[in-house]
Amino acid sequence: MKLKVKTNINNYSIIIGKNLCSKIYKIILNERIYSQKFLLVYDSKVPAQMIKSIISRFNKDIIEKKKIVFNEKSKNLKTVSSIVKILEKNNFSRNDSLISVGGGICGDVCGFASSIFKRGLNFINVPTTLLSQVDSAIGGKTGINSLSGKNMIGSFYQPSLVISDINFLKSLPKREIICGYAEILKHSLIKDKIFFKFLKKNFIKILSHNHKILEKTIYKSCLIKKDIVEKDEKEKNIRKVLNLGHTFAHAYEATVGYNKGLNHGEAVLLGIMSAVEFSRKKNILKKNDFAQINDHLRKLNYDSLYKYLKVKDISKIIFYMKQDKKNKDNKINLILLKSIGKPILNKSFRENNIRSFLKTLLYR
Ligand SMILES: NC(=O)c1ccc[n+]([C@@H]2O[C@H](COP(=O)([O-])OP(=O)(O)OC[C@H]3O[C@@H](n4cnc5c(N)ncnc54)[C@H](O)[C@@H]3O)[C@@H](O)[C@H]2O)c1
Repeated sequence: MKLKVKTNINNYSIIIGKNLCSKIYKIILNERIYSQKFLLVYDSKVPAQMIKSIISRFNKDIIEKKKIVFNEKSKNLKTVSSIVKILEKNNFSRNDSLISVGGGICGDVCGFASSIFKRGLNFINVPTTLLSQVDSAIGGKTGINSLSGKNMIGSFYQPSLVISDINFLKSLPKREIICGYAEILKHSLIKDKIFFKFLKKNFIKILSHNHKILEKTIYKSCLIKKDIVEKDEKEKNIRKVLNLGHTFAHAYEATVGYNKGLNHGEAVLLGIMSAVEFSRKKNILKKNDFAQINDHLRKLNYDSLYKYLKVKDISKIIFYMKQDKKNKDNKINLILLKSIGKPILNKSFRENNIRSFLKTLLYR
């Protein structure tokens, strides 16, 4: 399956399928990316035989490789600098390519490194988690974490090509599959009630790696994100809807201290739940739609994750919510939901409003 993303800077393909690893070099050439050199940066948890299978098709002289242990703590300038050093040492040019093989963290770091090296070399993204295949690999946001929070340093930099091989997902822990599912669910909630119904019917098949359903789901999810990104590449307006639940989620993650107990995707699931509940409490979201979403979220059994956050953490959560890049004044800006498929942008609330809401949500 193939999708074409059209942006102001370039057009690029997203190729989705199984057994693509050994064909990556061929796909790159088919997409008319003619580099003399490639640097393959890969996540240490991607199975070694998959990396071998990618590399075996490249002539040895044209490919450098670097394995990195990626996590939110290593999503930083030091890691970017270690990648840039290899590019410099091997005299890479702008026509050469950096290939990222890993999850959202690997992609965000490599995308950022690509955007700053000689003001931009080709970036080829090979996402290996469900979350990165349905979300982070599309749209050109790159970023690293800093003292002031998550993804605070970054750039908009479109890839030259995205190759999503669903075989990578076989080694992915179930917990990470659910994290990707959270973003898929978000896409259905902001854009497509029919897709939401499809997910309700098929979510067990998706979580248990049914090839056909999984491929269709990844394709549909990418299509929704692609349409939004094409309309508003730099997130001036409509693209903000992709942040449904993320203002809560980023604050939850930061409050827990990027603790493994609550990873990014799980925080997103909680964030979506919070945004949906807040939309209902403010009488914005229709009762019946709320019931349908709530019912589905409970089947995913994730409300138990609230145990990581307590009422005593509320001030910290509010502190991080106020750091959100969408805020323009002292208020907290949220993306909310009117009905399934119909989000609302730019709703701002006073801190006290959110504080009282969180008191009703979190454990003592
Ligand atoms: N750029 C964007 O638009 C965008 C959008 C959403 C999220 N993000 C970012 O993406 C990150 C989250 O991405 P993620 O959920 O992919 O996390 P991740 O990159 O941390 O990957 C999750 C875990 O899976 C492991 N892993 C990766 N591929 C594997 C495989 N094939 N088999 C086994 N294990 C594997 C990783 O080592 C890690 O432990 C966050 O930092 C978030 O900020 C970016």
